[in-house]
Amino acid sequence: MNDDGWADAIGAPLDRTDGPQKATGAARYAAEFAPDKLCHGVMVLSTIPRGRIVSLDTSRAQHAPGVLFILTHRNAPVLPHHGLAAVKPPAGRVLSLFQDDVVHYDRQPIAVVVADTFEQATAAAALVRVTYAAQPAVIDFNAAKPHAHKPKEAGRKPPDVAWGDPAAGERAAEVRIDITCTTPMQNHNPLEPHATVAHWEGDRLTLYDATQYVSGVRETVAKTLGIDADRVRVVSPFVGGGFGSKGSVWSHVVLAAICAQKVDRPVKIVVDRQQMFGPVGGRPQTSQRIALGATRDGALTHVRHDVLSHTSEFEDFVEPSALITQMLYAYPHGSTTHRLVKLNTGTPTFQRAPGEATGSFALEVALDELAYALKMDPLALRLKNHAEKTADDGKPFTSKHLRECYAQAAERFGWSRRPAAPRSIERGSMLVGWGMATASYPANRMGASARAVLQPDGTILVQSGSQDIGTGTYTVMTQVAAETLGVPVSHVHFELGDTTLPQAPVSGGSMTAASVGPAVQAVCQKLRGQLVDRAVADASSPLHGVPRERAAIDGGWLVALDESHRRESLSALAGRAGTPIEATAEAKPADDAKKLAAHSFGAVFAEVHVDRDLGEIRVPRVVATYDVGRRLNAKTALSQLQGGIVWGISMALLEHTIIDPHVGRIVNANLAEYHVPVNADIQAIDVTFVDNPDLRFNPLGIRGIGEIGITGVAGALANAVYHATGRRIRDLPITLDKLIA
Ligand code: MOS
Repeated sequence: MNDDGWADAIGAPLDRTDGPQKATGAARYAAEFAPDKLCHGVMVLSTIPRGRIVSLDTSRAQHAPGVLFILTHRNAPVLPHHGLAAVKPPAGRVLSLFQDDVVHYDRQPIAVVVADTFEQATAAAALVRVTYAAQPAVIDFNAAKPHAHKPKEAGRKPPDVAWGDPAAGERAAEVRIDITCTTPMQNHNPLEPHATVAHWEGDRLTLYDATQYVSGVRETVAKTLGIDADRVRVVSPFVGGGFGSKGSVWSHVVLAAICAQKVDRPVKIVVDRQQMFGPVGGRPQTSQRIALGATRDGALTHVRHDVLSHTSEFEDFVEPSALITQMLYAYPHGSTTHRLVKLNTGTPTFQRAPGEATGSFALEVALDELAYALKMDPLALRLKNHAEKTADDGKPFTSKHLRECYAQAAERFGWSRRPAAPRSIERGSMLVGWGMATASYPANRMGASARAVLQPDGTILVQSGSQDIGTGTYTVMTQVAAETLGVPVSHVHFELGDTTLPQAPVSGGSMTAASVGPAVQAVCQKLRGQLVDRAVADASSPLHGVPRERAAIDGGWLVALDESHRRESLSALAGRAGTPIEATAEAKPADDAKKLAAHSFGAVFAEVHVDRDLGEIRVPRVVATYDVGRRLNAKTALSQLQGGIVWGISMALLEHTIIDPHVGRIVNANLAEYHVPVNADIQAIDVTFVDNPDLRFNPLGIRGIGEIGITGVAGALANAVYHATGRRIRDLPITLDKLIA
C-alpha cells in the first residue's frame, strides 16, 4: 500500500502519521504548553522515609527572587475526604496533598515553590528548611515479610484462587520442584517524565498533562478538589512514553491545580528524573514461591504459586504475578495466593505487563527446572501441558495459536540443534546457552466512543478522547478509518488526547487499539452510510436515484457500482451540504464476553554468551513469534514487540532500584546508576507473527500488543544462562556478581 491506499489500509506498514510532527518538534508535549503568564512550580520532597514534619521554614525561600507562593501543609486547602480521591485505580490513587504533617516515604512531596521562572523556583526550593521527628521506617522487604497482609483483590480476582484438589495433585506428582524467585523494585523511565500545566480561567480548569487517561485525570482531579468534572478539561495530544506510570493521577497534578488557583496564574510542574523514583510509582519487588509437580511423562499434576509483593504504608497496590499461572498451562490442580508487604516507600504501580512480567519469569524458570528434573526438552514439556482452557475457571480462549508460535520461533532459532546438558557449548572464552519461555498477556477491552465528520474540503476528521503514548494510536486509527470509509489515509485526520472529545478508556492494559478501534470502525461505517444515503437522495448528485445498496465509497469517491460514470468526490458532496456531516458511535464488548478468556500468546527463544571467568552476559539474539490476533500496522506492531523484548532483556539483566536500608532513600535515582540497555546491549531481535484475526474478541479481530513483548523474556534469558553455565539464578537482575560468586 502506498500512502494513498485505502482498500487494504489495515495491516499495512504505514509510517506514523505523527512522525513528521515529532521529528520536527511540532508535536507539543505537556510541559511545552505555555499559556500567558505561566509560572513554575518545583516540588520539595521529604528526606526521611517515616515521621512527622516538625518545622517547615520557608522564610528564606519566600524572599528569594521571583518567588510567588509556597504551598505546604500549613496553607494547603482542606480537601474533601482529606484529599483521598473517591475514584478507583487506575486513575485515582492515594496522593500526598499536604493534608497533614505525616511523612510515609522518602521523596514524598511536602511543599511546592512557585516562582516566575523554573530556575528561580529551583533555587528557592533549595532554601526550604525542614526538620522532622523521624520514626522507625520499614524498608527491608525480607524482614517485613512475616507481617504480610492479604489484599482485597489481585488483578480484579480474589487474592486466593484454587482449583481441583491441590493436595491430591501434589500426591499424584512423581517429580517435584519447589523454588523461590525474586524480582527487584524497578522504576519507569519514559523519555518524557510526568508534567502538568494547570490553567484556571474563572472557575474552569484546563490541565495539559502527560497522561495515559485524559478522562481519568478529569474525574480524579475534579473529585479530589470537589468541583464538577465538566469544569475540568484535560489535554494530552502527545505522550513520550507511559508504560503504566502515567495511568494514574499522581500528586503533582493536583498540586499544580491548587498552586495555579493560589497565584491566579497558570502553573507548570515537571517531575524531574530523580523525582521519577518515589512519588510516581514503580514496579514493586516480588518474592514468588512456585511449586510444580508432574508425572514421569511430563504431565503437570499441580501448581502452587504464592506471591509476595511490596506496597506502601498507605495504599495497597498488588503486582498480580500469579494471574498468568492461572491460565498458562493445563494443570488439573492448583492454587495461587497474593500477599502484600507494607514498606515506607511510595506506592508502587502498574509497570508494563504488571503481574505477567514478573509472574512469567518465576513460572517459566520453574518449568525449566522441572524439564531438567524430568530429563525432558523444555519446549516438549510446554507442548505436553498446552492449555485448551484456563486452569482456574475452565474458560475456553477466544482464539489461541500458541502451538504455531512455538513451532515457528523454534524453527527460526534452530532449537532442535540444542544439546540438552548445561554447559555443553563453548565459544572461545564464552559459555553459550539457549533457553526458551512462553509469553502471554490478557486481551483487554472496554467501551469507547468516537466521532467522524466529513469536512467541507472532503476530508474526514475522526476523533476519540483516547491517548497515543507512543504506541501509534494516531496511525492505526487513521488506517481503520480510511479502510472502513473507503478513502485514502491521507484524507483522514485523527484527533485524540482531549476530554472534549468522545470518551475512551485508559491507555493501559494494552487496550487502546482493541477498544477504540471498534469505535472508530463503527462510527466510520455509520458516516459512510449517511454519506451514501445523502448522495442517492440528492437531486444534484450524479448518484441521485441509484439504489442504496448499489452505491459505495471507493478511493475517496462516491460511486455507483454498476455505472462507473456516475461518481462524485466527497468534497463535492461536502460542498453542497454546506455544514459538516457527522456521526458518533460507541462500541463495547458483548454482554457475554466474560464467558471466554481472551489472551495473546508468544514463544521466546534466547541465546546468551557468558564470559567463563568474568560472568559478563551478552545476548546475541532473541527469536520470538507472537499470536496477537490481526495486526493493524505491521511496522508499529513490530516496534511494540521489539521494544517489549528490549525491556525484557533490561529486566533480566540490568534494572534494579536500590534502596538504602538505613535511610530509606533510593540511591540510584538517575539514569547513570539505574541501568537500562543502550544500543550496544541489544543485538539481533527476530520478531514474527502468526496472523489469526480474533473475531470472537472484537469485530476487527485485534488484540492489544503493548505489553506482551516484555513477558517471558526474563524467563527465557534466565533459562539460557542456566544452560550456558549450569548456574541457576532465580533473583533478578542476573548480574555478573551472582554468576562468579
Ligand atoms: Mo500498562 S502497565 O497497563 O500502562
